[in-house]
Amino acid sequence: MRILVTGGAGFIGSNFVRFLVREHPAYQITNLDKLTYAGNLENLEGVNQRFVRGDICDAPLLAGLLAEHDAVVNFAAESHVDRSILDSASFFETNVRGTYVLLEAARRTPVSRFLHVSTDEVYGSMAPGQFATEDSPLRPSSPYAASKAAAEMLAMSYAHTYRMPLLITRASNNYGPFQFPEKFMPLALINALNDEPIPVYGDGRNVRDWIFVEDHCRAIQLTLEKGKAGGVYNIGARNERRNLEVAESILDALGKPHSLIKFVKDRPGHDRRYAIDPTVAETELGWRPIETWKSGLEKTIRWYGDNSTWIERARSGAYRDYYKRQYGAEIKP
Ligand code: NAD
Ligand code: TYD
Repeated sequence: MRILVTGGAGFIGSNFVRFLVREHPAYQITNLDKLTYAGNLENLEGVNQRFVRGDICDAPLLAGLLAEHDAVVNFAAESHVDRSILDSASFFETNVRGTYVLLEAARRTPVSRFLHVSTDEVYGSMAPGQFATEDSPLRPSSPYAASKAAAEMLAMSYAHTYRMPLLITRASNNYGPFQFPEKFMPLALINALNDEPIPVYGDGRNVRDWIFVEDHCRAIQLTLEKGKAGGVYNIGARNERRNLEVAESILDALGKPHSLIKFVKDRPGHDRRYAIDPTVAETELGWRPIETWKSGLEKTIRWYGDNSTWIERARSGAYRDYYKRQYGAEIKP
């Protein structure tokens, strides 16, 4: 199968490309990525793939590419909630209009599978004890989540109207190698490694369901292979943790003091809890996460510990300005 992967130089996309190249070499991959601040070709060093630098909003480029492929896996997106709160224009441009342009291209040049990578954030915050199933209403509450929900709605309308073979995955919070330092897990881990304070929003009791990135990648591959056209799949690891617990686990693993935790002003509109029920993926796809919280955390900590040059480069340049704007503090030189 010839797959067009979009956004494959980012965190999950690059892990997905690596995973396919290693475990499913029969796939032929083209990786289309705009290389925004979050895209990094170093994430793909030594990986045998065809790379095209370009934008999913570029219709003529997509027309040419789709003619050469059997399937699309769409990771390309603006992905950070805090940035969407500072300025959401690029989120609606890439996540909504970009998905629309990609869908239009696939309508004109059909593919046999169109997998759109979405998120559990489209469901919004869940009350304690409540779990979103694939049929739960979409109640996005950040500009990021709204842009992802809008993209899904468009994709579903195309599947319904034009009978496109659409698959949607809604995954929970990913962690693992190559995650850009702006996200909570790598931010906490890198700051802990450098003895810098870990900024925890609000009371630190917000809950996320953490999944190791490679488990998510395997779920996407299985969805591509076995998913029913029109199917939606929640991809969660049944691994709910409070943010405070995440920060403490990282500090404990590194032998650093909990005094590095610094409570800071809460994120506006901060969703309290994300929680999804992954039963459909487990039963229909036969998928289960392989990593435990302990083993996933160990792998992640080891990777960041071994990749100080990657970290230094990712934290240089414009990221320093973002950090100052978001946290009112300088990154240590
Ligand atoms: P990321 O920000 O690390 O990577 C996004 C990639 O998309 C980057 O390489 C970037 O250069 C590229 N890109 C951005 N705009 C583009 C455009 N217009 N055209 C082509 N490429 C473009 O994001 P991620 O964390 O790897 O997330 C990937 C996907 O998975 C996103 O769709 C996100 O919504 C979804 N998702 C992420 C998580 C998570 O925890 N990170 C969880 C569930 C779903
Ligand atoms: P994040 O990694 O931004 O993912 P999302 O908002 O998409 O779930 O944040 C994960 C959790 O960590 C979320 O509840 C917000 C919180 N958080 C902090 O407490 N401090 C931080 O500096 C960041 C970036 C996030």
